[in-house]
Amino acid sequence: MTDAASAVVEQVRATVARLYPGVDDALDTAARPSEHADAQVNVALGLAKRVGKNPREVAQQIADALELQGICSRIEVAGPGFLNLTYDDAYLARLVASVARDSSLGVRPAATAERVVIDYSAPNVAKEMHVGHLRSTVIGDALVRMCVRVGHTVLRENHIGDWGTPFGMLIEHLIDLGEVGAARELSVGDLDAFYKQARQKFEESEQFQARSRHRVVSLQGGDAETLRLWGLLVAESARYFDSVYSKLGVLLTNDDLRGESAYNSLLPSVVERLANAGMLVTDAGAEVVFPDGFTNRDNEPLPLIIRKKDGGYNYATSDLACVIDRIERLGATLLLYVVGAPQAQHLSMVEAVAQKAGWLSPPHRMVHVAFGSVLGSDRKMLKSRSGDSVKLVELLDEAVERADASIAEKNPELSAAERRNVARMIGIGAVKYADLSNDRVKDYVFDWERMLSFDGNTAPYLQYAHARICSIFRRAQVSRTEARTAEVIVKHPGERALVLWLLQYDSAVWDALDRHSPHRLCTYLYELATRYTSFYEHCPVLRADDDATRASRLALCDVTARVLADGLAMLGIEVPEQM
Ligand code: ARG
Repeated sequence: MTDAASAVVEQVRATVARLYPGVDDALDTAARPSEHADAQVNVALGLAKRVGKNPREVAQQIADALELQGICSRIEVAGPGFLNLTYDDAYLARLVASVARDSSLGVRPAATAERVVIDYSAPNVAKEMHVGHLRSTVIGDALVRMCVRVGHTVLRENHIGDWGTPFGMLIEHLIDLGEVGAARELSVGDLDAFYKQARQKFEESEQFQARSRHRVVSLQGGDAETLRLWGLLVAESARYFDSVYSKLGVLLTNDDLRGESAYNSLLPSVVERLANAGMLVTDAGAEVVFPDGFTNRDNEPLPLIIRKKDGGYNYATSDLACVIDRIERLGATLLLYVVGAPQAQHLSMVEAVAQKAGWLSPPHRMVHVAFGSVLGSDRKMLKSRSGDSVKLVELLDEAVERADASIAEKNPELSAAERRNVARMIGIGAVKYADLSNDRVKDYVFDWERMLSFDGNTAPYLQYAHARICSIFRRAQVSRTEARTAEVIVKHPGERALVLWLLQYDSAVWDALDRHSPHRLCTYLYELATRYTSFYEHCPVLRADDDATRASRLALCDVTARVLADGLAMLGIEVPEQM
């Protein structure tokens, strides 16, 4: 255990139990870092209330009885009855040295390893990926990596929109263009144009409409030729999505594709199981379920449509099949849906129906990892200059171009090939980090200057802190693995502040994981880089006064760089050794 507080908490509990036997354990015995102390314990407040005493007196009594020799160098009663604790420097030094020697950097593995399905990215076939899909892809990728890091088994699922009525018109348009021409257009990612042309024909020509409707029927009926043409649309789009994923450097591959169509054969059983559960109701010709607690604006019960009047199934039906599949076939206990906030109602209705039907019950649970929109500088939805939605690939290419230009300026010594590679890490990292560092449920403004800045809460700032440490080691002529075995000395306030923060890594990772909120990890890493910068300014490393201090500071440099690299890796961001 590398957490500085746990020894304190244990001792606080024991002391309270000794002084006040029988007062129950619901007391808040946590030791939290605060502005005024390394750790603050508030147990006296609750305890005093329980036993009818003055909280400051109770606090003093506990302070006198605590046996924290070798752990705390000072215990003070403050304010209404807080206990302000200062850790012993040698204690901190010992703890951070054990983090330095731990390949897991003090991060505890999950108490129970689970099977986690993460549903993310999910663009739609023959439609452009927009920035909403970028958010889902980047946030989902970070959650995948975080879950894997603590020992969960992650099943990635890319629930692409590859089924439904629009495919009638899309297939007919493909036939009009000719397979070769259509495939070309789709594989280069000109999906918007393809979709728009189909849509336009559909609106303008009754004959095209009739063909499209007919085609939907053949598709649903499983007509082989129609399925072949449909498969072409899916394959070409998937090829394009994959090119975006590899540019982004996310873990998704075509093996993770599990689109709406994959649940097709399960849909009749969803209807049957709902009917058997007595939940299916006929409403205006459609078969629906009314989950408890959902109403429309007029306060009337809101239906989840399972089967439309024309016999077709719905988006919700495949999501229900999906819940069953993930729990019963895949054996997952946690289902994460990294989907935009506008689908909150849809997903909570699906959840409510799955619960009521008995398919989803503890320990199985479903969590909507919702996110807000990406805005332009005008605070409206991000659009390109021409007013269309921004093409993702172009955005990523621009990020790399811009990063390239700024490195060329900052570090002209890098070879062209090195610069290219570093520019990719910085440009892509900047885009991802700008997305991840904002509380996901909020909207954020897409701002090139800010995200690529080497100052502030940005990827380049963190990458730079890491690269600077690498450069210290190049000059020090000490290997990183050797450095981390040194004895650590905590003396200077700059060292102390850095060490205290390094010891928080485990709780930062778990905090981000428990809330499915990567931005909490970003905030931690930013503060780490800031404390490192201040340490570096005030505590000479290579020119330290003596060898022991130099070795200790090198050990701190090494562990800081590892935490930065490990934390950024969980966010899907690479770290260059120089930049
Ligand atoms: N394809 C959908 C969209 O673009 C997102 C699907 C999300 N996942 C799900 N299981 N419903 O909005």
